[in-house]
Amino acid sequence: MKRITAPDITAMKRGKMKIAVLTAYNFHIAKILDLAGIPVILVGDSAGMVEAGMDTTLQVTVDEVIYHTRSVVRAVRRSLVVADMPFGSYQVSVVEAKKNAVRLVKEGGAQAVKVEGGKKTCEAVKAVVDLDIPVMGHIGLTPQSVHKFGGYKVQGKGRAEAKDIIRDARLLEKAGAFAIVLECIPAALAREVTKAVSVPTIGIGAGPYCDGQVLVINDMLGLNAPADGSEQRPAMPRFVKKYADLYPVMTKAVCEFKEEVESGKFPSKEHCY
Ligand code: KIV
Repeated sequence: MKRITAPDITAMKRGKMKIAVLTAYNFHIAKILDLAGIPVILVGDSAGMVEAGMDTTLQVTVDEVIYHTRSVVRAVRRSLVVADMPFGSYQVSVVEAKKNAVRLVKEGGAQAVKVEGGKKTCEAVKAVVDLDIPVMGHIGLTPQSVHKFGGYKVQGKGRAEAKDIIRDARLLEKAGAFAIVLECIPAALAREVTKAVSVPTIGIGAGPYCDGQVLVINDMLGLNAPADGSEQRPAMPRFVKKYADLYPVMTKAVCEFKEEVESGKFPSKEHCY
């Protein structure tokens, strides 16, 4: 079985093949994605929110991404594994960016890394690409900039902002990015960006004209518990499609176990030595 590489992903655009990308943070989910033929698995810093219950991705550390990446890499035989560079790991200096990208590859086993930001991140992108580490860009709604944006809001609605996003995509391509995530931008703008660059665009909340689509695995599997102190499950962004709703299934299983332990029904004879 041939391992998928970053150049293979770039070539999928030339071959007019749509690219399915999902996030994964642990061995078992990564195994499902790999066996299902998902070409790119992203170990996103979204782990901080969907796995660790953080409010934003900003507290996620390089060590934490390395831990998740190692778990994913152990499961994967075929998919390309891309590790997210967390907040603070590439913005402070190009030297830091290079050191942290090397750690994600050397200690995590990632085949590529992802960074957020356009023009201001290009120097770091080029430096990491020059180390022969493939880099995926990420523009539009970049969650690490949530405080600057004042929330998780659609980006690129005005023409000036839209022009900046197109410019950023071109700069990332020039810096050597092998693919670019477009998050939460109008579909028409995503189409313009997709036409403007030769590398694939991977949309999340960016409509159907991107070269590929990415979703956070917990969102698409319905693995989202109510937030602290609430009975209500959190509202999903409009762009999420739930392909399954596992939270109630898991809750039912756990409640059944509790009842059976309390009533003495479990363990029965078949579970005893
Ligand atoms: O961290 C993440 O999961 C991401 C995707 C949403 C693109 O950046």
